[in-house]
Amino acid sequence: MCGIISALSYENNVSDSLISALSRLEYRGYDSAGIAYLDENSQLQRIRTVGKVQYLRNAVEKSNINSCIGIGHTRWATHGKVTEFNAHPHVADGVAIVHNGIIENYQELRQKLVSEGYKFESETDTEVVAKLTASHIKSGKNFVDAFKHSIGELIGTFAIVAIYEKSPDTLLGAKKGSPMAVGISPDKKSAYIASDAVALSTLADELTYLEEGDIVVVTKGEQISYTIFDMQNNIVNRQKVLNKVSLTDMSKSGYETFMLKEIYEEAIVARRTYDSYKYDIDVSKFDNVSIIACGTSFYAGVLAKYWIEKYAKIPVDVEIASEFRYRNAVLRKNSLYIFISQSGETIDTLCAMRLVKENGMKTMALVNVDSSSIAREADYVIKTEAGVEIGVASTKAFIAQILSILIMFIGKENINIDAIEKAINSVLNAGFDFARIAKKLAGGRSFFYIGRGTSYPIALEGALKIKELTYVSAEGYPSGELKHGPIAIIDEDVFTIALAPFDQYFEKTISNTQEILARDGKVLLITTEDATASLGMFKNNANIECVFLKQNEDKYYPFALTTLIHLLAYYTAKSKGYDVDKPRNLAKSVTVE
Ligand code: G6P
Repeated sequence: MCGIISALSYENNVSDSLISALSRLEYRGYDSAGIAYLDENSQLQRIRTVGKVQYLRNAVEKSNINSCIGIGHTRWATHGKVTEFNAHPHVADGVAIVHNGIIENYQELRQKLVSEGYKFESETDTEVVAKLTASHIKSGKNFVDAFKHSIGELIGTFAIVAIYEKSPDTLLGAKKGSPMAVGISPDKKSAYIASDAVALSTLADELTYLEEGDIVVVTKGEQISYTIFDMQNNIVNRQKVLNKVSLTDMSKSGYETFMLKEIYEEAIVARRTYDSYKYDIDVSKFDNVSIIACGTSFYAGVLAKYWIEKYAKIPVDVEIASEFRYRNAVLRKNSLYIFISQSGETIDTLCAMRLVKENGMKTMALVNVDSSSIAREADYVIKTEAGVEIGVASTKAFIAQILSILIMFIGKENINIDAIEKAINSVLNAGFDFARIAKKLAGGRSFFYIGRGTSYPIALEGALKIKELTYVSAEGYPSGELKHGPIAIIDEDVFTIALAPFDQYFEKTISNTQEILARDGKVLLITTEDATASLGMFKNNANIECVFLKQNEDKYYPFALTTLIHLLAYYTAKSKGYDVDKPRNLAKSVTVE
């Protein structure tokens, strides 16, 4: 949440790197963007714009910048509205700061600084860090010490970088709770501090991730170098890792959006997940399993519960991380705790995992980014093989998550990957008239997604996807539960997407569909070709339309259904003219509580 990039270079074109990195970081937030830099006279300058990075790019291109040092930020608003005043960087007496995270004691610090005579121009928690650093400089400290002192006074989570106009050869960064990486360009002419590897792809091949409480000091002398200090102010060596994010990962490869590209990769992702799965975990030794996650990853956990209990006969709990971490959960011995996260940075999932570790339990992370905080802190890591996911709404990562869990619990030998791949491809290549269906759905006032058994978690994922992308309220419901309240909402403006492959639950979901039709609700029934003969009662009913998937083994239906509901949400949002890659108010990597 919030993207950070900063650069110190011998070349005077750092604004180009800042802007290109910010475009790649937009998935972390796109409420506003900004850069601050020192110009050729070492004067601090700042450019900020509300909205997407493209607006900032336009403003920067007009400014003819010559600068060897600068910082940049793309914002997901927490404290203060989406305005230019609240956009980062924030400045004070020649100091400029960008920040990701939340400073919890900012009000107390702000009062203290106001009493010292500082005037605040924003409503953000971040501005105190700039003023605090400036105040320490004023009291006689050098830039590095002033920054270190300021960081020591902060309570909360943060990744912060700072520059100061009287120290044009120094770039500073601090990390606590939010991720931060530092890297040097292959030609050794530039160094960067950023919030992730994606920002640094094309800029640095090797990265060092900061650990909790670290401060990094990047300096330019005869050469560019950096020194990392730990919480006790000792110089420390942190491991260097290869930056595996490539330019191809960051391109749309001819698709009109990242999301469409990523949905079209779902079959490849399934195959890759299967082929590269080499983990040998004896799940039978655990008495139970607890899965903890947020968002789409949580729904992968809900689906896993159905599969694990059915096939491995191990009881499973699935919990929303933000609830688990604060509800005084009773932890169970001999339980396998699995944390699922695409980004590996979701703060609630990370903190829930830390809680479990603090209680002496072993933790397993199912993550897509192996350099992420969750991956680095977990006892065991299963890397999902979705590849880089850029679209803010998660799609292909879900496929990699559910397949990894299925393999973990039933074994590769019991999975027919050809059938899964075929099932997904049959949706991608079916030639369904999504544009027409989506146009119909776009007229809906609200949506229900219903299903039973393993179709229920997919209904949850379907409802999440459509609300994320189309800004219309949608609920995922177990088909049998609709009559216990929600059915009161049904009328001719409400669409229900009923997920009913021809499995053991088919007849029951069809009965629930009848109940909806009886109340003038509109239904899109997603079923399978072998159900055709059982659907005679819907003939001539204009309120229901059926989409037929290929017949398959029951346990593979979730794969085809997933791809279908992803495409459905995609095309519905497109027909409304919305930005599917960057839905409003969202961010992909949620590093605040
Ligand atoms: C955000 C994203 C969702 C994602 C959720 C959990 O809300 O918009 O798409 O499912 O975070 O993210 P994670 O990276 O932990 O899977």
